Amino acid sequence: MERKELEARFYKLISQAYDLHNPKIMSKYRHSLNVAYLMAKYAKDIGADPDLAFAIGLLHDLGRFYQITYYHTFNDQESIDHAIFGSKKIDECNLYKYFDILPLYQNIVRVAILNHNSYDILIKPITEEGLLQTKLLRDCDKLSILDQYIKVRIHDIKEKTPKEELISSTILQTMANYKLNRPENITNNLDEVCYYMSYIYDINYEVIYQEIASYISIMLDIFKKDERFDIVKIYIDSYKLERKKKLC
Ligand SMILES: [Fe+2]
Repeated sequence: MERKELEARFYKLISQAYDLHNPKIMSKYRHSLNVAYLMAKYAKDIGADPDLAFAIGLLHDLGRFYQITYYHTFNDQESIDHAIFGSKKIDECNLYKYFDILPLYQNIVRVAILNHNSYDILIKPITEEGLLQTKLLRDCDKLSILDQYIKVRIHDIKEKTPKEELISSTILQTMANYKLNRPENITNNLDEVCYYMSYIYDINYEVIYQEIASYISIMLDIFKKDERFDIVKIYIDSYKLERKKKLC
């Protein structure tokens, strides 16, 4: 099926069940499309199936629409795990058929979605294609989220953050260990910025890593006159060097 037809079906599905006038619904709708196109684009580079990647990108956040509508939050711990919920809905309504996903690929879609919002890949994909799609979704999701964060939120955060606020030690220690931060450890605005910066530590594919690295440079540049980020920059720069060395 053509991508435009899949996109039209996704619009129909979301607009019939949810209110696209709600800015949070609209933002997740745009994010879903964005991830779908990123998935299709980068699938070619890593040898994955671009059509399957596109469908996975479209469907990966289906649970978000229900979560926002009925729980008014994006916080999984305070509501539902949006990946588990979305995956169940896809199974219950057999959306595989509606989105032209072959039975052979259904488990790949399910596993990629279930793994997309967890700290690590918890459900091991059983095929090579499944592993590629799972890792690709985790990378493209982060890329799309960072893009939105830079466009919409980071400047606001910079303005609103008091001078006495500090990055918490747990967040900094995690950055020093080159590990992805956990959202539950965010205690203030600066922690939130660092949480998103730590995405750089959890990127699978080099081609996406390069994009993420340029987003992180933009973020560090926004805070370049803020001494609280000096140590963060040192951690990230040293990680970049280590990663480069490993590639050589
Ligand atoms: Fe998600």
